[in-house]
Amino acid sequence: MKDKNTHHLITSALPYANGALHLGHLAGAYLPADIYARYLRLKGEDVAFVCGSDEHGAAITMRAKKEGVSPREIIDKYHHLNKDTFERLGISFDIYRRTSDPLHYETAQEIFLRLYEKGDEFEERETEQYYDEEYKQFLADRYITGTCPKCGHEEAYGDQCEKCGSALSPLELINPRSTLSGQKPSLKKTKHWYFRLDKHEGWLREWIAEGRLDGQFHHDPKTWKKHVVGQCMSWLDGRLIPRAITRDLDWGIPVPLPEAEGKVLYVWFDAPIGYISATRQWASEQGKNWEDYWKGPNARIVHFIGKDNIVFHCIVFPAVLKAHGEYQLPVNVPANQFLNFEGRKFSKSRGWGIEQHEYLKVFKDFPNKEDALRYALLRNMPENRDSDFRWDEFADYHDKDLADKLGNFVNRVLVLTNKYYEGKVPDAAGDKAFRQAQDKAFRQDFDKLSLTAQDNAFRQKMTELAQNWASEIEAFNFRNAANAFVELCELGNIYLQEKAPWALWKANPEDPAIAACLNDALQLTTLLSLITQPFIPFTSDKMRRLLNLPKLQSGDWKDMLQKLQEQKPLLRAGHQIGKPEILFAKIYDRKDDSRLRIIEAQKAKLQALLEEEKKGQAPELKPTVKFEDFTKLDLRTGTIIAAEKIPKANKLLKVEVDLGFEKRTVVAGIAEYYQPEDIIGQRVVLLANLAPRKLRGVESQGMLLMADNAEGRPGFLSPPEGWPNGFPIR
Ligand code: 2FM
Ligand code: ZN
Repeated sequence: MKDKNTHHLITSALPYANGALHLGHLAGAYLPADIYARYLRLKGEDVAFVCGSDEHGAAITMRAKKEGVSPREIIDKYHHLNKDTFERLGISFDIYRRTSDPLHYETAQEIFLRLYEKGDEFEERETEQYYDEEYKQFLADRYITGTCPKCGHEEAYGDQCEKCGSALSPLELINPRSTLSGQKPSLKKTKHWYFRLDKHEGWLREWIAEGRLDGQFHHDPKTWKKHVVGQCMSWLDGRLIPRAITRDLDWGIPVPLPEAEGKVLYVWFDAPIGYISATRQWASEQGKNWEDYWKGPNARIVHFIGKDNIVFHCIVFPAVLKAHGEYQLPVNVPANQFLNFEGRKFSKSRGWGIEQHEYLKVFKDFPNKEDALRYALLRNMPENRDSDFRWDEFADYHDKDLADKLGNFVNRVLVLTNKYYEGKVPDAAGDKAFRQAQDKAFRQDFDKLSLTAQDNAFRQKMTELAQNWASEIEAFNFRNAANAFVELCELGNIYLQEKAPWALWKANPEDPAIAACLNDALQLTTLLSLITQPFIPFTSDKMRRLLNLPKLQSGDWKDMLQKLQEQKPLLRAGHQIGKPEILFAKIYDRKDDSRLRIIEAQKAKLQALLEEEKKGQAPELKPTVKFEDFTKLDLRTGTIIAAEKIPKANKLLKVEVDLGFEKRTVVAGIAEYYQPEDIIGQRVVLLANLAPRKLRGVESQGMLLMADNAEGRPGFLSPPEGWPNGFPIR
């Protein structure tokens, strides 16, 4: 019988097992994949969500050497730490495997051999590479340091200079040194296998730009993120060249050829194959066929990664799979950009940022810490551009969305149902005409959410938002999906506020409008218990418990959507719910500052780091200038007498400066900090003999002198009080 089921294979980048992961990793490749996997399961789809440790590569062997331990000791430690931390954060991998696994060796070697046997996928090349005579080994790029030929930085690596960012090859370094012995390495001949990536350029271009594979439709290229396609196209435009996929290292998967003794597969060759070996392991444990997820016509592969891994997942790995011949290619690679931390890059060495397991430790007494974090990262996910994690925003999302909008709504519904109906879902069937009248009245006050002029407005809006939630997740727009969730909570709150069942109760506890309102609100609460599941699964579980409903299962969303569309209840009348409990205790709480203190401690830590830095560092000054050069500048005192915004330029203001002897127009990049009306009358110093230049069509005739503060906010330099306009400064 033909298999009609879709088999979803969802992968998250295999993290290197040589360190802990920080919040940026979580937001980049793990949380979005988890949301997607959870959603598909709720939809009743067949899903394999796989990940594991990437345990090879020079970074791991170097760390082991530095610490005087074996690579195995390092990877065992971090494999378990990362696996356990993901689990605690609710990342619902079906399997978390490792690339030191025998099944992985077998899979990677098989694929290598298959390509080797094809005859034209590989090219053997003998080249000269650096060799450490003392340690008797060839040196991977990272094992060589030297002076950068581009900027003179003395600690550049064999593959990259971290000072100027240039990509390098070890042979370009001036004064190369081995990081093992510290000695100058010698050059020695070695043979390696190069994968002929250049041969694959043609079809890759058609596949990525047009979504066509072997002349047939493969995927709609519009569903891929622009930055992903853009990065791929710029690689393809730069032309692909053969890439060495073997290395002279003693840690890794042996190259399965008799003449390749002492050589291993390059880590980026074997790592993505880790997705396949993890699937094989999982499938054998589950009694499933792993090939359904990788080779079958209904396999649907999606890779979640950060933007630094795009080329490997969109070009190199697909080319390996295509060369093999039996595999399906991913239908999407929704790579994320980077998450920064309080305005800077995460940096372990500078202590800037927080690691996942560290967060769990520091927030151990913070109620519902896992969901609080997942939610803040979701709302700020770097989907299409880099984003920034800030503790203040973390607190805002927590208090405003989770505690106020979701928590209060659910709490009020549960409290009122318990109080008025002994916790039994009231029957809303009531008088249809009465309900319609209610809806009409409600609609009039509800333009905020633009209800249409139809009956049963509340249910309709609820259905519409739930459908948005689903389609945004399917399109990998998780932030939009979160917006739909927030709107659902807002809908509930406004509805309760408008209908005010407590007021109706005072007037007449028998009023059928009370039952109708609470029944609606309970339907929404039930819907929210599902909508929240991919985002904040711990809270979803709790809501199910409070509603006295079973845990969510595969297919529940499909059922719920059908009920919504057919206007059937999600929670039947007469169902007994549980007692209310608080879902999220606010951070800004006047009576209890214990949660705020945890956050304040984090902010204080960062502040201390900044101050430490300021103390330790004299700023780097620009190169010395001669006195004669300085005297060439004609600086004059002046006063701003007019200012206006420049249309379509959010950073620029057009400013008129009175120099006493004449007036000047100057374009200044200060619009983000100053309103035009606030700077009229400001005394300034103007560089008056700067060559004029046009900015956004306005000729700027000089430059205002400004000083930046620590946050980069510019302040005016002004002449001493009483000094008239037009006087020279020297
Ligand atoms: O960048 C990294 O952390 C790599 N270990 C990712 C590998 S992804 C996949 F290929 F396994
Ligand atoms: Zn450099």
